[in-house]
Amino acid sequence: MKKTIVGIVTASLLATSAMAADYVMKISHVVSSSTPKGMAADYLEKRIEELTQGKIDVQVFPNSQLYGDGDEMKALAMNNVQVIMPSLSKFPSIVPQIQLFDLPFLFRDKEHLYKVMDGEVGAKLKSYVDAKKQMIAFDYWDAGFKHFSSSKQPIINPEDAKGLKFRIQSSKVLEAQFKAVGGNPQILPFSEVYSALQQGVVDATENPLSNFYTKKFHEVQSSLTLSSHGYLGYLVVMNQQFWDKLPKDLQEKVALAMKEATELERKETAIEDAKIMEALKKYAADTKKLEIYQLTNEQVAKWRKVMESIYPQFYSVIGEDLIKKAIETK
Ligand code: SIN
Repeated sequence: MKKTIVGIVTASLLATSAMAADYVMKISHVVSSSTPKGMAADYLEKRIEELTQGKIDVQVFPNSQLYGDGDEMKALAMNNVQVIMPSLSKFPSIVPQIQLFDLPFLFRDKEHLYKVMDGEVGAKLKSYVDAKKQMIAFDYWDAGFKHFSSSKQPIINPEDAKGLKFRIQSSKVLEAQFKAVGGNPQILPFSEVYSALQQGVVDATENPLSNFYTKKFHEVQSSLTLSSHGYLGYLVVMNQQFWDKLPKDLQEKVALAMKEATELERKETAIEDAKIMEALKKYAADTKKLEIYQLTNEQVAKWRKVMESIYPQFYSVIGEDLIKKAIETK
């Protein structure tokens, strides 16, 4: 239930409904409620409560309020939270093969990406997560392609990355990607990125537009380069014990709500990307504090050449066959 609801009548209704609930499902995530992931999490709350007629009380905690990305996996394993949807780059310590999604320039476009996620490769990766026993993998959600940003020199050609301190998520692929261009990658939790950029702890980063804008990173970066060099997506995971305890009819309702939330989440990503691009262009024009660059095909080719050179380092970790299967997915 929303914590912002006030008033005696509403409060007593809430108390009644919480009392009537047979199960409490806490959902925790680290981004803003206005991102596609945040919207889909809120949709899950509304829809699961509606479909189960309040038998499951769903409580959503955005913005790392309950758990940050360093501790949410552990909290899920201990059933302190029942559903999380971490970025795919946060899974490597559990399922290193998932770093496949971090490989730069792997996906030709969104169509290719969804075919990989929803096809054989995505299913294989989910089976590795399921094998962990404490959690069950649901759907892949989408945040979009990532773009570079910097508070020092704009990042246009690979040489521009030399010596820059890049904030990265906890993935060896992302580390290798920035080392390949002479950058200095540093792992930081998402909740610390704004202040790290503001205080110059790091100079640069990579984000999909929704995270970049909703966390106001544009205020602490002087350039944004539309590079689409990598991808950021999510895997929705539920505590296995919680799922197993749900009666079959409630499991079916949760699965239905999840399917609808996935459709909504992916649609919202496309809508939000277009809206945010407009808002960022306006911010750049009004304040003159942000330069926005679009890479040319020639520049993209240079990035691709140097960054793709890291693939062989990950053949044994991810599986050469799986990488090839992803590339060849039509
Ligand atoms: C998220 O979108 O969940 C966070 C991604 C990040 O840590 O950059």
